[in-house]
Amino acid sequence: MQPVVLGIETSCDETAIGIVRGRTLLANVIASSVDEHARFGGVVPEIASRAHLEAMLPSIELALKESQVSLSDIDAVAVTAGPGLVGALLVGVASANGLAQGLGRPLYGVNHLAAHVSVDYLTHDQPTDPTIALLVSGGHSSLLQVDDITGSITKLGATMDDAAGEAFDKIARILELGFPGGPAIDREAVNGSASAIDFPRGLTTTNDWATRPYDFSFSGLKTALARYLESTPSYVRADVAASFQEAVVDVLLLKALAACKSSGIDSLVIAGGVAANSRLRAVAAERCEKAGIQLRIPSPALCTDNGAMVASLGSLMVSAGRPATQGAFDADSSLKVEQVSL
Ligand code: KG4
Ligand code: ZN
Repeated sequence: MQPVVLGIETSCDETAIGIVRGRTLLANVIASSVDEHARFGGVVPEIASRAHLEAMLPSIELALKESQVSLSDIDAVAVTAGPGLVGALLVGVASANGLAQGLGRPLYGVNHLAAHVSVDYLTHDQPTDPTIALLVSGGHSSLLQVDDITGSITKLGATMDDAAGEAFDKIARILELGFPGGPAIDREAVNGSASAIDFPRGLTTTNDWATRPYDFSFSGLKTALARYLESTPSYVRADVAASFQEAVVDVLLLKALAACKSSGIDSLVIAGGVAANSRLRAVAAERCEKAGIQLRIPSPALCTDNGAMVASLGSLMVSAGRPATQGAFDADSSLKVEQVSL
């Protein structure tokens, strides 16, 4: 029997509910408060928490309607327990707790980052693990070795400063392209030349490859870009966007493919909001094909925050016979990527 799992995601500004049956997606409802944050140039935690409270019940109702399952059909509830904004997470955890208790069903408190990777299981038939995973979102950038998505994740490296999505958001602000910056730069770059400006690739000196091959840094790139704008008053915005994007994409993939090579794992999953980037997807496809690496990237809508990814991880936990989270639990805003569930 394929378990029906309802997943709740509230770690940032999306109130998102997903329902899956086994590995089949039945509903994916997303209510975003992004427009309320746009004028502040970033997510305001208090606004996000209040929006989650308002959107929670209507979103659950809509997901049930979309999936045509009734509450009594639900076998388990999964919720993002962290990492994320603590007030925002708490709304999801409290709602999930109430729902699971009311239904008398098990509750799985799961890791947002592992959930990003696990959403790939809804798209591809073949089991993905073991795999290398490049996880690139607004809050995190890391390279992971995933031996078992329900319990064995090893961090190979991570960003030393900004997350990849954060770098996109900050550069978009400098270029006056609005918030969130990733999709805006992606669109602007289409009209620019990726080779117009040779921006630096962080942590790629011989010494870096020897000492921290799988870590990332975007601060040098940010500084180089700011200097370029200062010294070039007549700069072409599309060229700057395209060249910036190219530098990020290049370094992310250099390191991801190096991790595949040195681990002997010929499978790469790219996950998280930045995985929606069209240039990252295209260059990854080219390079992986050349290197004989099987590439999996979820559809763009499943890369950015959603409830399907939480339901997906919950469903995998149920199928693997992993224990549900026991008793009442708190959200953990700084949950480590290696801890798949509470
Ligand atoms: O995974 P996500 O939705 O939320 C977090 O867990 O952080 O990622 C959001 C990040 C934002 O920084 C956003 O600018 C970036 O993903 N992003 C993109 C694209 N779409 C979203 N970055 C580059 N290109 C895109 N098309
Ligand atoms: Zn995310």
